[in-house]
Amino acid sequence: MSGEPTYVILNGQLVPREQAVVSVFDYGSLYGCGLFETVRAYRGRPFRLSAHLRRLRRSAEELGWSLAVEEETVSRWVEEVLTANRLTTGDARVRLTVTPGAGPPLADWSCGEGPPTWVVMAAPLPADFDERLARGWRALIYPRARGQQAATAGVKSLSYLENVLARQWARSRGADEALFINSVGRLTEGTVSNLFVVRDGRVVTPPLSEGLLPGVTRAEVLEIAPREGVAIEERPLTPPDLQTCEEAFLTNAVVGLVPLVQVEGRTLPVGEVTQKLRAAYREDVCGQLGNHHPPPTSIQDTGCRIQDTTALPPRYRMQDTG
Ligand SMILES: Cc1ncc(COP(=O)(O)O)c(C=O)c1O
Repeated sequence: MSGEPTYVILNGQLVPREQAVVSVFDYGSLYGCGLFETVRAYRGRPFRLSAHLRRLRRSAEELGWSLAVEEETVSRWVEEVLTANRLTTGDARVRLTVTPGAGPPLADWSCGEGPPTWVVMAAPLPADFDERLARGWRALIYPRARGQQAATAGVKSLSYLENVLARQWARSRGADEALFINSVGRLTEGTVSNLFVVRDGRVVTPPLSEGLLPGVTRAEVLEIAPREGVAIEERPLTPPDLQTCEEAFLTNAVVGLVPLVQVEGRTLPVGEVTQKLRAAYREDVCGQLGNHHPPPTSIQDTGCRIQDTTALPPRYRMQDTG
């Protein structure tokens, strides 16, 4: 693929990346108005695209934005972009972005004059992506609280500056992820992930009312756990819970389940519950996508894996973000 152009879908048209240009008056770039979704495609097949589009639609409604999203159309765009970029045999990260389009810079959503701007892009995941994740992430608690009452809490909006800053803060301190606390000091989520801890063999994740994104993967884990005989509940968590829990893990659509192996300097094991749920999630992916390759039998065995993307130019290799 090296040397070959990459393609992006811009407003329904497949264009070379260099031609995927949006107006400087677009409300997405003027004010961060807009929404996005990140979906993982396994061998060219997006996982849980319907759930991502449902969240996109719901988020738009919450922001008072009427957004017509035809699943069939978006699905076709995704397929087209994966095919054009030769991403049908390997795994890829697909990003959908939608903004209200262009308008005068008056910070008034209703000023949007044009049709919405839609962008669909995709990039391969590195060949060793899952193996690296199996080693786990380290996390730190971000010291600045984020209000659970904010209109954008729980919405995957383009206003991700706080998340980007928090993640950068964590990375500059040798961690992979930052965990947010809300205005009453309770844990909510990571900058690109949802949080789960295991305590007395039970899995606990903060409820949505704490101010967090209703993760597609989070919902999947809430479904999988009882099926696997693992007790799970939505309950508020506080920073001390991270000092007393037996295991912890994070989720997002690209990484699936990633064990937390260090939090606030405390080392955590990749425990049995995390391993069990991680394997079950992977099995679910294989099952739902009709992949007949054997599901993973251990945390190291990721199954369903294929393409070597190490030959790709660095700018096309995507990192493990959400
Ligand atoms: C802030 C935040 N929380 C949670 C998640 C996980 O959501 P999902 O499982 O839908 O990827 C993400 C994903 O990027 C996120 O950005």
